[in-house]
Amino acid sequence: MSYFRENIEKMSGYEPGFQPKNSDVVKLNTNENPYPPSPKVLEAIKNLTPEQLRRYPQPLADSFREAAAKIFDVKPENIICANGGDDLLNMAIRAICDENRPVAYPSPTYSLYPELAKIQNCPVIEIPYDAEFNLPAKLTSTGAALTIVCNPNAPTGTFIPCQELRQLAEEIKGVLLIDEAYADFADGNCVELAKNLENVIILRSMSKGYSLAGMRFGFGIASEGLIKGLMKVKDSYNVDAVSIAAATAAINDQKYFKENVEKIKIERKNLTEKLTQMGFEVQPSQTNFLFAKPLKARAIDIYNKLKEKNIYVRYWAYPDIKDKLRITVGTAEQNQKLINALNELIARD
Ligand SMILES: Cc1ncc(COP(=O)(O)O)c(C=O)c1O
Repeated sequence: MSYFRENIEKMSGYEPGFQPKNSDVVKLNTNENPYPPSPKVLEAIKNLTPEQLRRYPQPLADSFREAAAKIFDVKPENIICANGGDDLLNMAIRAICDENRPVAYPSPTYSLYPELAKIQNCPVIEIPYDAEFNLPAKLTSTGAALTIVCNPNAPTGTFIPCQELRQLAEEIKGVLLIDEAYADFADGNCVELAKNLENVIILRSMSKGYSLAGMRFGFGIASEGLIKGLMKVKDSYNVDAVSIAAATAAINDQKYFKENVEKIKIERKNLTEKLTQMGFEVQPSQTNFLFAKPLKARAIDIYNKLKEKNIYVRYWAYPDIKDKLRITVGTAEQNQKLINALNELIARD
């Protein structure tokens, strides 16, 4: 007899992007922000008292909830804090799905969704996107207890207009979770839907726009009813005192955040142009990464050769995306190193 439940025994587990030990690399594989967090974050961490570490943290991360509530113009009761956006996804699937309550999502998308579903042993309904990554009409009729739409989507970088997601939320019977981990870099977001519809959860991450991937902090915005339900499955102290202080300082420094995001948008445009000139087909992106199809060489070969040069991008061998690479937008210097390496590789082949 196995020590594990059958579904756990069968699964291989989510494989996070490679995290090289060496810091002397060009790391464009896990969509981290290339710029440091606001100096106010480091100040807040330094100002923590021994007492704040000795005691358990605020169970609901009240300081962060209050700060975020002001920024999004909702009540603190409409916000749930999480140990990264991934923790919120985990809570949603645990609270909403089971063997008879499927999760549905359009694909390709964030590859963590099916892994969480396997852990919960709930059926998965994957509806493929069309070639233009429009919202699949079939999503309205899946009967799923939870529908997840990543918007802007990973790994494609594409954006679905909120009006279409509103219609989806109104037509389905279950919950619509809109994963806005990358919304900080997009031209719009769908927070309004969480304010007006009782079945919508908006997921946000502090890892990308706020440069806090190492800190692990995310949050959800939803109706009070949904937040209360999610609270029932969260760990009692799912965010620690250090991350509460860091995330609160980060979200309160909107000026720094906005300047940081603008820098990335400028680099996104530059990198898109350079890759296009080099013979890549680049999907217009609303995120801090590009989804690019090399036309002059195989994606897998480019990925491996870049790795040999200590330049890391992301590649998946899945049939629908194996001809493309996902490349995080780095600093101007990192992006130039990538372009120089690609120029060498493509010219040599
Ligand atoms: C689409 C998407 N959603 C959610 C997350 C979770 O982010 P985190 O747990 O770092 O907040 C990620 C992280 O890469 C992501 O790509």
